This record gives sequence, C-alpha cells and structure tokens, in this order.
Amino acid sequence: MALANVVRDVFEETFGYPSEYVIQAPGRVNLIGEHTDYNDGFVLPCAINYQTIVAASARQDHIVRLVSVDYDNDVDQFDLREGIEFMEGKMWANYIRGVVKCLLDLGYQFSGADIVVSGNVPHGAGLSSSAALEVVIGQTFKTLYDLKITQQEIALNGQKAENQFVGCNCGIMDQLISACGQENHALLIDCRSLDTVPILIPEEMVIMIIDSNKKRGLVGSEYNARRLQCESASQAFSVKALRDLSLEALQQGKDKLDNVVYRRARHVISENERTLLAADALRSGDLKLMGKLMAESHISMRDDFEITVPEIDCLVDIVKNELGEQGGVRMTGGGFGGCIVALMSPEKVDSVKRAIENEYQQRTGLKEDIYVCQAKQGASIVAQ
Ligand code: GLA
Repeated sequence: MALANVVRDVFEETFGYPSEYVIQAPGRVNLIGEHTDYNDGFVLPCAINYQTIVAASARQDHIVRLVSVDYDNDVDQFDLREGIEFMEGKMWANYIRGVVKCLLDLGYQFSGADIVVSGNVPHGAGLSSSAALEVVIGQTFKTLYDLKITQQEIALNGQKAENQFVGCNCGIMDQLISACGQENHALLIDCRSLDTVPILIPEEMVIMIIDSNKKRGLVGSEYNARRLQCESASQAFSVKALRDLSLEALQQGKDKLDNVVYRRARHVISENERTLLAADALRSGDLKLMGKLMAESHISMRDDFEITVPEIDCLVDIVKNELGEQGGVRMTGGGFGGCIVALMSPEKVDSVKRAIENEYQQRTGLKEDIYVCQAKQGASIVAQ
C-alpha cells in the first residue's frame, strides 16, 4: 500500500477521526561535496524518491500525540506547556520532540497535534532518514498552524534539533536539501550563505544508490572528531572556516598542523574545488569529467579523511571496473558504512547491477541493496 494511505489509515484507526493533511519530506543522496558543509563549503545533493511521510491534524489543546508505524505503532505523547525532554530509548520520538522544542524556543506559537509517521528511507544507510523526519515535522507545524517560516528556516531548525537535542553535530546539507530539493535537479548549496543553484540532472544520467548494508551511526561515531579536526586546522590558519583556505596556503603552512589534521584539511579544501567543478560538469552533461571528480573525491575520503570502510571501497571498486570512464562512483554521506552513489548512462544500469550481484557478497559476505533513484521535490503537502 502507498505510504500516504498507510499513515492515513493508521491515523483514523488510532485517533478515531480522519487526518487533515498528509505531508512528506525526502531523504537525500549527495553527488559530491562530503564533510564540506560544516566547513562553510559547497555540496551537491539531490532529494530522492524515498521519503518520510506523516498524516496530521491540529488539536485545540497543547498535547502532541505521536505514532510511529515503522516502530510497531509505538506511541509518544507530550505537552507543549511543559519542558519537552529527551526520552532514553525512543530515538524516533526524540527527533520530533527536538524539532518541536526548537520551534517553540524560536518563538513560534502553535497548539498541539496528532501525528502518525512512517517512511521508506532506509535507516542507518546514510540517506538522511533522520533529516527527513526533522524536516517533515517542521513542515507539518508550518502547515497546520500557517507558521511564517521559510524552507531554509525549517532546515536550520531541524539541524538545531539534531545538534542540541539529539546530540549529533551535523552540518546543514541534509536538512536543507530535504526542505528545498527540486524535481529532476541537484542543488549546488553554498553552506555559508545557504544560497542554492538548481542544476538539471540530464536525462541520460541515471542515479544509482547502492547500500553496502554495513550499518553506520553518526552519533558516537567519528563524525564529531572529524569536525573538531577541521576546526583546529582553520584555527591554526586564523581563518573562519576551511572554506577560506586555498590548497596553496595549506601547503605553505603545512608545518602548523600535525599530519592527520593536515590531511583532513586537504580533503575538505580539495573537495570544495571538486564540487564546484562537478556542478559545471553536471550542467554540461559531462559524464566523463563527473566520473573523474567522483573518483578523486572517493580517494580523498578514503586516504585523507579516512571515512570509508573496506566494504564501501570494495563496492566502489566493482562499479568503477564496470563503468570505466563512462560514469562516476563514490561513497556518499557521512561515512563508516552506508551507501555509494553512481552516475551512469541508462544502458549501463543492467551490467553494473550484474557486476555487483556477482561480486559483492562473495568478496565481503554482505548483501547489497540497489536503488535506481529520481531527484524529487523537497518537503511538500501530499494531500489534504
Ligand atoms: C552527514 C551530515 C551532513 C554532512 C555529511 C557529510 O550526512 O548530516 O551534515 O556533514 O554527513 O558530508
């Protein structure tokens, strides 16, 4: 059954009346520009056709009632007039609690809501299921109470909830693309100004996401450590962020940094350059150049930023061998497992799938999942 019908049906069964709205926010895949967002740099993601979806209605009182279809119809409830607290062992609810709390902290005024949530963004795969949840909840309160909040602000509010309430120091990319994505386009995002430039994805470029099924977790992983290393590099050069440092300047001042921090900074600075070049390559449909830049990006993540794992390197290797110069492939997302993304012509799809099916499990003992994706619109009302 379509997700929209699932949440609508569960809503009516649970709350005993029909929902007012069905609202969605998508997951994302990043084509290039990894760990650049929190360095005020550039990223090039698109929203995908996997989403978090809610059925929702406003309430007259101050109670928020939540049901998660994907967690066996687990429930949560809180009162907007009491301090909204973190709930040990109920992570799905904490994203929602965090978003609502941050909206209140910003001064937005609203009453309660009944909300049923479900989704098909694979969890723990690096496709931003949590950002999609944060954004869909922001979008829901905007819709139910006609809040004067922009898509950008919904994204920033979601990021704040994740940073301050959930405790993961993520950047702005995931929430921004989930809130602002455009159908058939990737967005070149300047993570300093938050300006976005939509870039049409040519019809002859297929986006394939391959989940290694090597599970990952951002909270408690190496993510926050990388962020601190980047900050220490920019402090050593007295710049606001690594965005403000050129490769030449980094090279010249190499002695200011220990070797690990130097390599972390080299990844970020070179990745920013590649992302800008990739935006042009995508715009002109240059699959060969896109492939070269994605290959360099992967090597930089593997050797300098050290966020890949053997299973991911293996998948990239298999796809790269099959594509040669006729496409691109790299790890996507925060790292330490999760997914790779590949761009290729439609004719290549079957042979790439076959190569993965033949080799990946045999080489790693893990079975992949393959998604051929479309770039989709960001958060929106599905039905009312
Ligand atoms: C995670 C974070 C993003 C970004 C990526 C790496 O997805 O949530 O903000 O830093 O990792 O590019």
